[in-house]
Amino acid sequence: MPADPARRRRVRVYATVGGLLLAVGVMTTLVSYSVTLYRLFCSVTGAGGYTQRATADHATKSARVVNVFFNTNVAPGLPWRFVPVQRSVNVHLGQNTLVFFTAENASDRPIVGHATFNVAPSEVGLYFKKIQCFCFTEERLGPHQKVEMPVDFFVDPRMAKDPVLTDTNNITLSYTFFESKNPEGAQNLARFDKEPPNPAAGREIFATTCSACHAVDRNKVGPMLEGVVGRTAGTVPGYPYSAALTRAGTVWNAATLDKWLADPQAFIAGAQMPFHLPDPLRRRDVIAYLATLKPPHAAHVAKQSASHPG
Ligand code: HEC
Repeated sequence: MPADPARRRRVRVYATVGGLLLAVGVMTTLVSYSVTLYRLFCSVTGAGGYTQRATADHATKSARVVNVFFNTNVAPGLPWRFVPVQRSVNVHLGQNTLVFFTAENASDRPIVGHATFNVAPSEVGLYFKKIQCFCFTEERLGPHQKVEMPVDFFVDPRMAKDPVLTDTNNITLSYTFFESKNPEGAQNLARFDKEPPNPAAGREIFATTCSACHAVDRNKVGPMLEGVVGRTAGTVPGYPYSAALTRAGTVWNAATLDKWLADPQAFIAGAQMPFHLPDPLRRRDVIAYLATLKPPHAAHVAKQSASHPG
């Protein structure tokens, strides 16, 4: 009788250990499976469809540059306009790049669509990594609703070592939207409007657009932007501001930066920044990034800007 409970306890321990091992096995399988799927299809998660991420290894960013072209299609009968915001981008292998597509429902009824994509030449598919995207998930657009959808990607530097692809400099990413026959459980594309500001996305925008004229820690064509949030306009020593900006007295914060980036001359007449960012979501993200550039200038910030020479 006294041996009995002890034996039962032992059995229970074996059962628990066995269960744990099984769970670990299942999880390992799922993880390796999802990595494979990920390579092929980007984010397969229904939940959010947006947040499963690959990560770019900036350390392996390579000198090789490829042109990535964007191509969009809408299946017959789907009254959506769907276009890439940019025709193409030049990217270094390993460089994170943020691009946008616009979708608009031209009809008077809500419609659910889903997108498929492919990469050409197909051998590149293995190396084309999306970090955030819209794809196979069902997406709903209200009547005449228009949204901008981000795709954050990089091309794996290992592509440079693939003998089949030594001469490949042009890559095309094509998306096709189809009308969904089975719209239950569709996500609302408007979620892209509700995402919180994303400083990482803002950093990409900074690297691909602002850095043509601005650096974080030194004056270029435009003034340095480190510590810009909280700073009075026109006050970086040694930068030849327009008289308008010097006189403005504006303090840069999220609201004033938003107006400035939307239309500098409308916000401060006579200002001389020859650039604006019409998309409010991108303004929000880039402002979130600027807010991370705190003075005094920390070593990691200097390193960050050094990796985006511009
Ligand atoms: C084509 C060049 C160019 C691009 C691209 C550009 N800027 Fe500027 N920026 C300028 C110039 C020139 C000024 C100074 C304007 C003046 O003196 O009136 C300026 C001024 C500014 C200021 C005011 C800084 C201060 O010290 O008062 C901010 C903030 C700013 N830019 C942010 C940005 C951001 C963010 C981006 C990218 C989304 C960007 N700029 C893209 C040229 C550019």
